[in-house]
Amino acid sequence: MELPDYVKAKQRSKNKELDEQYVFNSNLSTIGVGKKYFIKTYGCQMNEHDTENIKAMIEKMGYSYVDNYKEADLVILNTCSIRENAHNKAFGMLGRLKHLKEEKKDLIIGLCGCMAQEEGVISEIINKRKYVDFVIGTHNLHHLPEVLNKTISLNKQEIEVFSKEGNIVEGIPVKRDNPYKAYVNIIYGCDKFCTYCIVPFTRGKQRSRNPKDIILEVEELVKDGYKEVTLLGQNVNAYGKDFDYQYNMENLLEDVAKTGIPRIFFMTSHPWDFTDGMIDVIAKYENIMPFVHLPVQSGSSRVLKLMGRRYTKEEYITLFDKIRERIPGVVISTDIIVGFPTETEEDFNETLDLVEHCKYDSAYTFIYSPREKTPAAEFKEQIDESVKEDRLYKLNELINKYSLESNKKLENKTVSVLVEGEGTKKKILFGYTDTKKLINFPGDKSLIGKIVKVKVVDAKSWSLDGEYVGE
Ligand code: SAH
Ligand code: SF4
Ligand code: F3S
Repeated sequence: MELPDYVKAKQRSKNKELDEQYVFNSNLSTIGVGKKYFIKTYGCQMNEHDTENIKAMIEKMGYSYVDNYKEADLVILNTCSIRENAHNKAFGMLGRLKHLKEEKKDLIIGLCGCMAQEEGVISEIINKRKYVDFVIGTHNLHHLPEVLNKTISLNKQEIEVFSKEGNIVEGIPVKRDNPYKAYVNIIYGCDKFCTYCIVPFTRGKQRSRNPKDIILEVEELVKDGYKEVTLLGQNVNAYGKDFDYQYNMENLLEDVAKTGIPRIFFMTSHPWDFTDGMIDVIAKYENIMPFVHLPVQSGSSRVLKLMGRRYTKEEYITLFDKIRERIPGVVISTDIIVGFPTETEEDFNETLDLVEHCKYDSAYTFIYSPREKTPAAEFKEQIDESVKEDRLYKLNELINKYSLESNKKLENKTVSVLVEGEGTKKKILFGYTDTKKLINFPGDKSLIGKIVKVKVVDAKSWSLDGEYVGE
């Protein structure tokens, strides 16, 4: 048993991580034969991508997927710690699984993802939720087959959570959910330690993947017919800063663009590390999509300082305007937190002013949620829930107004769309534009998987309606 430890999780060593190759223990390949598994994913794209690895590892053990947890012999929750409601959802699901296990004694319940890295969660699982069979942390996810095997053969609760990140493990099998769009990890962990955020504790030190491995993965995806990659990391702009040679996000974007993959997205970008060179590369290559997710978090420089974001409102606006100016047709989205400790009405109004200036194409807005062991959770002046809710409501009204405006600008324009499938209505296809907008249009199923031209005929707040133009 190995339990999470926040003191270790917070440390940042100067050690260089090595690359390690994943090896599957073939003795475990029959454990799940004839059995079914279900997995539920919470949280960000990184977790979604981890789920694709989990699925492949579990299927190598002989399990087959079922989309109803009640029919499964093994249920895994891939959890998120970012806000209290993510916690509540996972705990709610664990409650349902407890009932299921009362009827189905052999059910195996596992938990992984960011919550596995939290001391409080683990002590609750050990003391109060003994029906959870195993927990595996984010740093040692590749041990999943071994841990699962141990739980089954020893018939006891197994908890294996490393608090220090280890080597970067290459070659973990992957079962991608989408045949056209793929996630590709480029950097793990985060060293920014924004004062509200738990990610640096749950995902460890910032570690960049070797460029060769990334390019090779994208080249394979091109060969397999993939049309789109999203380069993933908590802060992709910091890519390469941990190398002892000169190679950064700008270089990587350029090399990925040269593989010829038709569409490249990347996320998330911290405003701090966004360089002019990156802007130039995005503008230069047609296959790097004109879409930037640039979380601001607050429009008040005082609050930004307390958040540890390392930029002022003015610096953010300068960067924002530069990106808008230099990348033709760029769409910029953001993340905003309301009700951060000490946030006054004036601070909040500054956030509204900033939104008025930036007119974001879209935004994810959140109520501040205190997280275990983060500095902001200890701040004395926490904001009342009702005030937070009022601010969120006001902010969303403004955000929605600009999202609609951004979509309206596309009316009567022809956009490029990666067609993903047929919606609930027959003969109505759906896909995403090169700026990640959802679009529905009548068309033949043979277009699925292709990048086609569609004319926007109607724009709504959350989606577009279009007419097929041609390939
Ligand atoms: N690495 C990304 C963000 C990852 S978390 C970045 O730095 O931009 C996604 C979003 O969740 C954050 O941008 C932030 O807006 C929000 N978030 C993080 N911690 C939060 C907390 N404690 N309460 C509310 N929202 C939070
Ligand atoms: Fe969290 Fe800040 Fe790191 Fe983003 S940059 S993951 S908000 S600590
Ligand atoms: Fe959540 Fe962990 Fe992602 S906390 S947002 S799943 S990195």
